[in-house]
Amino acid sequence: QNDIYTAGIHGRTPRVPTDFAELERRAHDAMSDRAWAYIAGGAGEGTTMTSNRAALDRWAIVPRVLRDVSVRSLGIELFGRRLPAPVLISPVGAGGLVRRRADVEIGRAAAELGVPYIFSNQGSAPMEDVAAEMDRVRTGAPRWFQLYWSTDDDLVDSFLGRASAVGADAVVVTLDTTMLGWRPQDLNIGSLPFARGEGIDQYTSDPRFREIVAERLRSAVGGDRPEVSLGAIRTLGSIARNAPGRFLRNLTAPEPRASVQTFLDIYSRPSLNWDDLAGLRDRTSLPIVLKGVLHPDDARRAVDAGVDGIVVSNHGGRQVDGAIGSIDALAEIAPAVDGRAKVLVDSGIRTGADVLKALALGADAACIGRPHMYGLALAGADGARDVVANIIAELDLTLGLSGYTAVADLDTDVLRKIG
Ligand code: FNR
Repeated sequence: QNDIYTAGIHGRTPRVPTDFAELERRAHDAMSDRAWAYIAGGAGEGTTMTSNRAALDRWAIVPRVLRDVSVRSLGIELFGRRLPAPVLISPVGAGGLVRRRADVEIGRAAAELGVPYIFSNQGSAPMEDVAAEMDRVRTGAPRWFQLYWSTDDDLVDSFLGRASAVGADAVVVTLDTTMLGWRPQDLNIGSLPFARGEGIDQYTSDPRFREIVAERLRSAVGGDRPEVSLGAIRTLGSIARNAPGRFLRNLTAPEPRASVQTFLDIYSRPSLNWDDLAGLRDRTSLPIVLKGVLHPDDARRAVDAGVDGIVVSNHGGRQVDGAIGSIDALAEIAPAVDGRAKVLVDSGIRTGADVLKALALGADAACIGRPHMYGLALAGADGARDVVANIIAELDLTLGLSGYTAVADLDTDVLRKIG
């Protein structure tokens, strides 16, 4: 934070606004209508997004004084790694709507900060490209991989193998998006976020995925029921007609259509259940983190099933309209987990004070979703980095000004429920 204040002395304004409201306003101006609808939008009436903020606002910090806070430490340890701050970057798909090399730029931002970047399964760049960029900045910079559990088991294995190969420290399995939520902002402008290929590079760069597309094309041309497959590909055609995406340019017309349709058909498995989870442990040696847990009973069951961590999350209010605010869920879940697994939280985290509240309520770390995307929209990798750096700087100040010197010392004693 010193840098920002020093810059102020010289009359320099920061690259990105230092408060979320202004950041969001400026990002809105900088983004296309499609990008804004997808990134800023939420499910239904937006109730869950409001609840995420309301839940945070119901907790007040009660600062302590005269405690010598001159030396402070934000560092934590997560899955055997020392991290500079209890902050991670949430997986965000289809970032290509905002900038062409979105994921690579965010990777650079994360590596510069040493903050883990959770690669989205629906990333707009292959994870290998993002990992290479991160290694260029800082060899071995922390990265995780987020999985949407496909209907195709071999594709799941392929993704898990790629995640290990690029040095992921953990795999995050997102459970709240077995189907896409009801998202009026996208629906009202007729925008299917992935229609032009944004967010499917993780798939089109996958050997198993290509195999599936090729099989479909073969059966469309000469297979057993060509009329069915051709129908599917024709539907695709209307989706992908204006597709200018990078991967599309490298493919023939039927291939991109088949790719987008195949992606839509197989990216997730609505039948997913606890039995499926049991088998996952045999398929990867990486720590397993379940994302999208909101009920304490599910958290207990996940821990009993041997998972290494959970992310308390309502997907930034994008899935179930009217869902519980993630901080309200955290307050019940952290005691239920009781230290038996790592607990992360996201959805609505906007400031350093928000992170402090999450930690005090028992989270080991908090993840940032939309804010870094807004930084990206305004100033690319530098913008994404500055947004996350600002949140960490504010956390450091808030920690000290609240009378604490280490994030590990925070507990509910520093909070009062006021609503
Ligand atoms: C997401 N999120 C998400 N989660 C995930 O597991 N895989 C994904 O591909 C995506 N994609 C995605 C796209 C966009 C545009 C947004 C805004 C969010 C959810 C994300 O990881 C995180 O849970 C929320 O963004 C956190 O809420 P806030 O910080 O955005 O309020």
